[in-house]
Amino acid sequence: MTIDPSRLQQAVANAYSQYSTLAGGENASYIPYLASVPSQLSALAIVTVDGEVFSQGDADFRFALESISKVCSLALALEDVGPSEVQDKIGADPTGLPFNSVIALELHNGKPLSPLVNAGAMSTVSLVNASDRENRWARILDIQQKLAGAPIALSDEVNHSEQTTNFHNRAIAWLLYSAGAMYCDPMEACDVYTRQCSTLFNTVELATMGATFAAGGINPRTKKQVLAASNTPFILAEMTMEGMYGSSGDWAYTVGLPGKSGVGGGILAVVPGVMGIAAFSPPLDPTGNSVRGQKMVASVAQELGYNLY
Ligand code: DON
Repeated sequence: MTIDPSRLQQAVANAYSQYSTLAGGENASYIPYLASVPSQLSALAIVTVDGEVFSQGDADFRFALESISKVCSLALALEDVGPSEVQDKIGADPTGLPFNSVIALELHNGKPLSPLVNAGAMSTVSLVNASDRENRWARILDIQQKLAGAPIALSDEVNHSEQTTNFHNRAIAWLLYSAGAMYCDPMEACDVYTRQCSTLFNTVELATMGATFAAGGINPRTKKQVLAASNTPFILAEMTMEGMYGSSGDWAYTVGLPGKSGVGGGILAVVPGVMGIAAFSPPLDPTGNSVRGQKMVASVAQELGYNLY
């Protein structure tokens, strides 16, 4: 790759200095743990397809992966059952409704439409090949680690906080089951989904995941092939359609890159063939996307001239 490293470092530094202390937004509070994370934390990182790393701020701080984990389980389901079955059983369209909407299911005969909303993510978890609950969890944790290129652990604190408050998701899991869109025990899918949301990543590990998608499934730091190159376009298409929830269209319009957010404050964007860009800062906008994270990622993409459209 021929991008001057000092240009990359400068773009990261500029975005961080401009937006890392931006006011606005609030930590997610429906998961008690997330409300307790210090709101002033901010980090930005890029990892190139050559494995170069550029970062600023609290890039070592580990935060809950939350909805960004939906991309990892999608990757595994694509490997296991293939893109046609994922499209047929889950879908590849935006719901036009919040990430935990029950109405979205009701409007589409129980088909979740996207693996990146809560319903579709639980259905995706249930599609993964597994002999039992612990094997399902082990396989999902394994792909998270391979994508991060680092040992990734479940946070017992986050998991406990989520498992004791996830009644809405349990209801969605049963609705999926009653509509024939759940492919294992619904409470197993909800449990494993909740665990996958409760692992901790730092911003460099998150950017490494993005770089792996950018590099056709090869993790540029470990040099290992994590998923088939032919599956990465399906992941990026799903991210484009629903990765930023109700802001996905505005994100495509203004930033022009596949993105994925989580209520832990993380954001991931992918420049195919070039790099992963990741940001973290807990305060969220009403859609559930990090206020500072969106600005920092957009700034880097704009300064470097990356917009797919
Ligand atoms: O299931 C939930 O509601 C959370 N564990 C994850 C939601 C989430 O991250 C939505 N993203 N912006």
